[in-house]
Amino acid sequence: MAAQNPHLPRAEVLVDTDALRHNIALLSGLAAASGAQTMAVVKADGYGHGALHVARTALESGASWVGVCHLEEALALRAGGITAPIFSWLHVPDEDFTEAVSAGIDLSVSSLAALDAVIVAVNRTGKTARIHLKIDTGLSRNGCAPQDWPELVMAAEAAQRTGWVKVIGVWSHLACADEPGHPSIDAQAKRLTEAHALAVDAGLRPIRHIANSAAVLSRPDLHFELVRTGIAMYGLNPMPPGFGGDELRPAMTFRARVALVKRITAGEGVSYGLSWTAPHETTIALVPAGYADGVPRALSGRMEVLLGGKRRPVVGRVCMDQVMVDCGDDVVREGDEVVLFGPGTRGEPTATEWADTLGTIHYEIVTGMTRPRVVRTVVPVGGA
Ligand SMILES: Cc1ncc(COP(=O)(O)O)c(C=O)c1O
Repeated sequence: MAAQNPHLPRAEVLVDTDALRHNIALLSGLAAASGAQTMAVVKADGYGHGALHVARTALESGASWVGVCHLEEALALRAGGITAPIFSWLHVPDEDFTEAVSAGIDLSVSSLAALDAVIVAVNRTGKTARIHLKIDTGLSRNGCAPQDWPELVMAAEAAQRTGWVKVIGVWSHLACADEPGHPSIDAQAKRLTEAHALAVDAGLRPIRHIANSAAVLSRPDLHFELVRTGIAMYGLNPMPPGFGGDELRPAMTFRARVALVKRITAGEGVSYGLSWTAPHETTIALVPAGYADGVPRALSGRMEVLLGGKRRPVVGRVCMDQVMVDCGDDVVREGDEVVLFGPGTRGEPTATEWADTLGTIHYEIVTGMTRPRVVRTVVPVGGA
């Protein structure tokens, strides 16, 4: 029989730019209602969706900043033609900021040592660096400890007076924004406000930013002048059910094509270890995507796919390159589309469903979808 859907790749991550646009418009609209600008967080290759096109789409749809973790990510975006402010926030002690300062990247500074390293780059390039001072307000991750803050602020103010740096922001990151009402949220906001006040008293005029997606959706009072939204932009809701974000549309679909269809008789085992045995004669569809393509092996015996308009169980173990689907007596054809996860609008599993089964978060599922042998296709899929 001739293969169906010959245009589909073997395995594909499909990124829906319409969904991205919809989500960014929604989130930046919420931020704008508070008078805040929106930073699109595209670290880790845009949470697996492709950093450059997500950045472009976001900037066309309401965002005016782009955020990443590392300098390499920031410089790749600049080289890709992004002219909007790009903020980079996690650096190593011996980081060379020369290229970043040259490229006008906004840099997070958490310590005197980091400030010194930035000033070295300023002196090399002759360009003023744009910096955001990070205060640790309670996450105990990156950021300046509160007891060291006055000294960092004084040093930054002196560096600004010299013309070496411009202090653009004072910022922090929330630990529990996805747990509405958690007392740490207000405690962290209070510490940020105090840290900002100290900077203002020192003569600086920085903006403030602390809100991630969860806070964009649930805490307009914490939007301040800028919000940093990641996961919700990709259409995945960080909030518990009943706390908003229901209009978000997941942008990523993971799909493949049936490589082979065969009948097996009752009692035949399927896949390594023969952990599943056909209870009766049945049709097995082989799907050429396995754990090397982003299907976690831990989903063996615990996942379904959408195939031929129906959800069907994956049986036996997930292999490196393939999974097997039990189709019963239904007619399925080689070449048919198999949706492993998607927005859920056709009844297919979602990244959230995978995460729940695995005991993890949807962030980890989509961010893991950067596999060299899985094609990424970026298209307006439409819908709504
Ligand atoms: C510092 C910082 N800001 C903002 C974000 C965006 O968070 P979210 O994806 O929950 O919106 C992240 C992501 O982890 C982050 O590390």
